[in-house]
Amino acid sequence: MTHLLTRALDTALDRTVVPGYSKIGYWLRRPSWDADDPRPGSLTGKTVVVTGASSGLGQATATATARLGATVHLVVRDLAKGRTAVTAIRGEVPGAEVHLHRCDVSDLASVRAFAAALRGSAERVDVLVHNAGVLPPERTETADGHEVAFATHVLGPLLMTELLRPLLAAAGRSRVVVVSSGGMYAQKLPADDPEYRDGEYRGTTAYARTKRMQVALAPLMQERWAADGIAVHTMHPGWADTPGVVTSLPGFHKVMGPVLRDAETGADTVVWLAATEPAPGGGQFWHDRAPRPEHYLPRTRESADELARLWAYVLDATALSR
Ligand SMILES: NC(=O)c1ccc[n+]([C@@H]2O[C@H](COP(=O)([O-])OP(=O)(O)OC[C@H]3O[C@@H](n4cnc5c(N)ncnc54)[C@H](OP(=O)(O)O)[C@@H]3O)[C@@H](O)[C@H]2O)c1
Repeated sequence: MTHLLTRALDTALDRTVVPGYSKIGYWLRRPSWDADDPRPGSLTGKTVVVTGASSGLGQATATATARLGATVHLVVRDLAKGRTAVTAIRGEVPGAEVHLHRCDVSDLASVRAFAAALRGSAERVDVLVHNAGVLPPERTETADGHEVAFATHVLGPLLMTELLRPLLAAAGRSRVVVVSSGGMYAQKLPADDPEYRDGEYRGTTAYARTKRMQVALAPLMQERWAADGIAVHTMHPGWADTPGVVTSLPGFHKVMGPVLRDAETGADTVVWLAATEPAPGGGQFWHDRAPRPEHYLPRTRESADELARLWAYVLDATALSR
């Protein structure tokens, strides 16, 4: 009976968005998870790589996984910010083994260089967290000619995972966690315009479309790497108070500030997916430690053909085999 009530509350929170995504949802769900927390030391001997680890949810993920015993690799585009994050993590987790790498995940050459360097220095990657995210104020293109949100959220993570495949396979049963957003629920897969060339460009739309792509492509990524024991999870963190939200969504931050989660609770499901045993099956979309629907609106559903077209486009754009 208690279990049924807990599930009913969880579903109601998920459907009503504001309470569910805010810290209210976290704290109402939290009591039913106590027995399910990753146990202390559960990541000892494991290697975790986190992109965008110099801020917000990425830094919180790096800190929490270091606290569980992992060797953590921070992947950042700004080394000065990265060094500040390393100092903060070592302050919070004395003795933490933390490594710092520079990589702009929107730049495919930078991703290739980082992956080659990591392959030369690490023996395994147990967990790869694609957390780096951007909400562009205007349409810009990367050095490779790709729209920047698409490159940051989709192309860079796909290429990085493929290039780190030997290290992920070496770990045995490894996990890839892609940090998406609940904002993707409002958008349909833009299969015919992934680079957002048509229509008036809006950063929030570019952001949500590419977050939709992350969720839609996850099952295909899962299928691609399953034989190597790699599970691919997508998740959304709800709404968390991070430097990115302050800068990119100041109005939202002003109104919702009091009920936003902190970065640690926003990162909770990332850390749980990284460490919980038994490992959850891949290819699903998670929030607050439970799989969630990928659509609430019929108009956002993509066809198999649209998904296949986008998949072909991203494989070509990253020069990966089909
Ligand atoms: N906070 C929320 O409520 C919320 C909600 C839904 C989803 N998310 C997702 O959660 C993730 C983390 O967001 P956050 O709120 O923690 O934002 P944040 O504070 O802005 O952190 C984002 C991090 O990504 C890094 N980054 C951006 N572009 C990059 C690139 N091309 N290469 C390497 N690193 C890059 C940023 O580096 P710089 O510091 O150098 O800019 C920063 O460290 C994002 O994917 C975001 O979409 C957050």
